[in-house]
Amino acid sequence: MGERGRGDGRLDGVFTGNPLNTVGRVLFLQSGMSEQTSRTDYSEFVLRRLHSLSGVLPLTAFICFHFFANSFSTSSPAQFNKIVDGLRSLPFLAAIEWGGLFAPFLFHMFYGLWIVYSGKSNVDRQKYARNWAYVAQRTSALVVFVFIFYHVISMKYLVIPEGRYPEGSDFYTALREHFRNPFVYWWYVVGVSATVFHLANGLCTFCMTWGITVGRNSQRFTAVAMTALGLALLGLGIGSLNGFISAAPRHGEAKPAQVAVATQHK
Ligand code: HEM
Repeated sequence: MGERGRGDGRLDGVFTGNPLNTVGRVLFLQSGMSEQTSRTDYSEFVLRRLHSLSGVLPLTAFICFHFFANSFSTSSPAQFNKIVDGLRSLPFLAAIEWGGLFAPFLFHMFYGLWIVYSGKSNVDRQKYARNWAYVAQRTSALVVFVFIFYHVISMKYLVIPEGRYPEGSDFYTALREHFRNPFVYWWYVVGVSATVFHLANGLCTFCMTWGITVGRNSQRFTAVAMTALGLALLGLGIGSLNGFISAAPRHGEAKPAQVAVATQHK
C-alpha cells in the first residue's frame, strides 16, 4: 500500500516506509486505536501526543529551572540581580525564548484549552479512582492559563520591562515592591500552587499516556514520587516568593532594628 493511502480517509499507508512511522504505529495501536481509524483521528492522536510531550519538554523542565533561578531571592539581592542580568544577556535570547519556550507554551496552552472545551477524556486512563484528578487537571489548567498570561505580561511590560531596567538594574527591589502588595502575593501563591499541581499530576498521566506505567503498582509508585516532586517544587516556588518579602537580614543589609540602635548610639 502506498504512503498516500486509499483516499477514503482510512489509515492504510500512513505508517509504511519511514522507520519513524513504525514507532508511530506502535504508539497508535498501543493507545487502543485500530488501523481502521480515520486520518482525522490519527491527526488528533498526533496532536495529543505533541501536547503531552510539550507538557514535559520544555514546560516542566523550564518551570524547574525557573523556580531554581528565582530561589536566589533567598540568597541576596545582589545574587538575584546577577542571575537576572546573566539570563537577559544570553546570546540568541529572542530565538531561545520564542523557539524553545513561547511557541511550545502557546501550543500547549491553546490546544489544552481546546481539550478542556471539547471535554474528550482518555477513558482508558480514567477507569480507576482518577476521575477527580481528571477534573482537577483541567481546572488547574484554566487557573495556570490566566496566571501565566498575567505573569508574563506584568513582568515583561510593567514591573521590570527591559527598557526601564537595563543591565545592572536593581530588579530585586522592584520585585520586592511588587510582591509586598498582599493581592499580588496571594495571587502568586494560588498561581504557583496550581502550576505545581498541574505539573505533578500531569507527569503521572504522561507516564500512563506513553505506556511507561501500565500496572497499578507502578502507577501508585509514580503518584507518590510525583507528590514528593510537587511538594519540593512548591517549597521552592513559595520560598522564592517569600525571599522577596521576608524581613530576614541579608548580606550587606542591616535589619531596620539594627539601624535604629546604631542611630541612638551616635
Ligand atoms: C507551567 C505550565 C504547564 C505545565 C508545566 C504543564 C504540564 C503538563 C503536563 C506534564 C501534562 C501531562 C500530559 C499527559 O497527560 O500526557 C499536561 C496536561 C495537560 N495540560 Fe498542561 N501544563 C502547563 C500549562 C497548561 C495550560 C496553561 C493549559 C491550558 C489551559 C494546559 C492544559 C492541559 C490539559 C488540558 C492537559 C491534559 C491533557 C490530557 O489529559 O490528555 N496546561 N500539562
